[in-house]
Amino acid sequence: MIVTIDGVAASGKSSVASGVARRLQLPYVSSGLLYRAAALVALDEGLPTDRAEPLLASLEAQPVELRPLPEGNEVWRGSQDLTERLHTSEVDGSVSAVAQLQPLREWVNDHLRQLPPPFVAEGRDMGTNVFPQAEYKFYLTASPRVRAERRVQERTADLESVEAALVLRDARDARQSAPAPDARHIDTGLGNLEQVIAKVLSYLPDPA
Ligand code: DC
Repeated sequence: MIVTIDGVAASGKSSVASGVARRLQLPYVSSGLLYRAAALVALDEGLPTDRAEPLLASLEAQPVELRPLPEGNEVWRGSQDLTERLHTSEVDGSVSAVAQLQPLREWVNDHLRQLPPPFVAEGRDMGTNVFPQAEYKFYLTASPRVRAERRVQERTADLESVEAALVLRDARDARQSAPAPDARHIDTGLGNLEQVIAKVLSYLPDPA
């Protein structure tokens, strides 16, 4: 069984997906971490983030591995654990550019398709490009205001400018973030995290 959870930026995808996976006792797969790992490699090695070839050559020479462990996802490169370095502001600043490179997207997708099901996969295009055959697909939404309020709670920032940045990011991400036609849409602004997790679980078979 594959469950896909996609959605717009700050819609709560990773909290919902990891909560659902925990309740189902399945591994949780965060595809964004592979884009983040590629961006980190580019930064570490001084490679351009707007050209795929040098970055892909480096990733082929020394592969990156996503490990969906029960306690959370880890990303390794050889004997180096990259996990703790994937959410810095430097990576935040360059990951969007890397995620626009089609050959990099294929590198991520090949990696994800080698993982053995069952699992819950979270990202932007899990139910469309990567696992179109998934049995259960969800697409999380929330208004720009609700999402901006969540972001402002996470870090000190001005609500209006965070909301404007999210609307811009929605437009930039629209191509890879389109919902699958057979995905169930869930507005995460309509309840707290536990309620949204319960809603997703209500469409899934009970864990054995
Ligand atoms: O979910 P996240 O913030 O860790 O994602 C990091 C970046 O990767 C973000 O710019 C969106 C992009 N991404 C993507 O394009 N496709 C995915 N399946 C997952 C993430």
